[in-house]
Amino acid sequence: MTIKELQEKVIELKKKTNTAVLAHSYQAREIVEIADFTGDSYKLSVDAAHTNADNILFCGVHFMAETAKMLSPEKHVYLANKDAGCPMAEQMDKDMIAQIKASDPDRTVVAYINTTAALKTVCDVCVTSSSALRIVKALDSDKILFIPDCNLGGWVKKQLPEKDIKLLQGGCPTHAAVTVGEVKKAKAEHPNALFLVHPECRPEITELADYVGSTSGIMDFAKKSDAKEFIIGTENSIAEHLQYDCPDKKFYPLTKNLVCRNMKLTTLPDVYLSLLAISGDPNGEAFEILMDDELISSARKCIDKMIELGG
Ligand code: 13P
Ligand code: SF4
Repeated sequence: MTIKELQEKVIELKKKTNTAVLAHSYQAREIVEIADFTGDSYKLSVDAAHTNADNILFCGVHFMAETAKMLSPEKHVYLANKDAGCPMAEQMDKDMIAQIKASDPDRTVVAYINTTAALKTVCDVCVTSSSALRIVKALDSDKILFIPDCNLGGWVKKQLPEKDIKLLQGGCPTHAAVTVGEVKKAKAEHPNALFLVHPECRPEITELADYVGSTSGIMDFAKKSDAKEFIIGTENSIAEHLQYDCPDKKFYPLTKNLVCRNMKLTTLPDVYLSLLAISGDPNGEAFEILMDDELISSARKCIDKMIELGG
């Protein structure tokens, strides 16, 4: 079966089962093409809350599907590949954060959305990479504990010197592995290109950038810019999608190593098999996100706070 034929079957099953497919921008082209909603983690969490579909099929990583379930507890939410998890989301222990909070109760705990629901229960407000700066700035509190990503948190801290922001040593293994040598090499090879980077990269990398922002931020910047060439310092699928959307511009992946293995686990056949199972066909296989009501109501408070503060 060709990709096109499989995509047609997927579209048919989406309709039959009233399922909305949500795909993070790090997903492969053939998945993005059949998705009802695509974007960064913030946009997808809002889309999940607003869709009228009975089912949500998430193509991304586990914490994103969990967020969708918390925002739409009445819906059936599925993750297209059950093994797709974000390693950063698992880095911090709920009890450790609760202990730090108890010893320093004046500190507002700000959690990057890349965290588990269990960890969110001890946090005050969530942020995404597109909203972290705006939300931390808007908080009444000047004493912050930012978890788990010390690179995103450090980038926010640098721009808000008036706030006392405490960081812990967590982060994205994919973005944090980018080296200054790789940036220098890419800039030497493409001297006319602007360098756009995700704030999950280390400070010595973001310092070299012409623009720092979320996956959607990077895509919007590149599309609106008058410049013609860009080095893309985030997961390599973004350079691929941009090249497709803007054929008159040139996009260079910063390094071949910027690949999130977890985001790449999901395949179009996974999407098809999930929808087949949702339709009741025993030949399919779907992984439903199941959470008890107590966990949902406790964990979603900090997501509601994020949405209330305007993402
Ligand atoms: P965005 O908020 O930019 O979608 O980032 C999510 C993510 O996991 C980046 O690595
Ligand atoms: Fe997690 Fe990094 Fe992958 Fe994003 S790119 S999902 S932060 S491991």
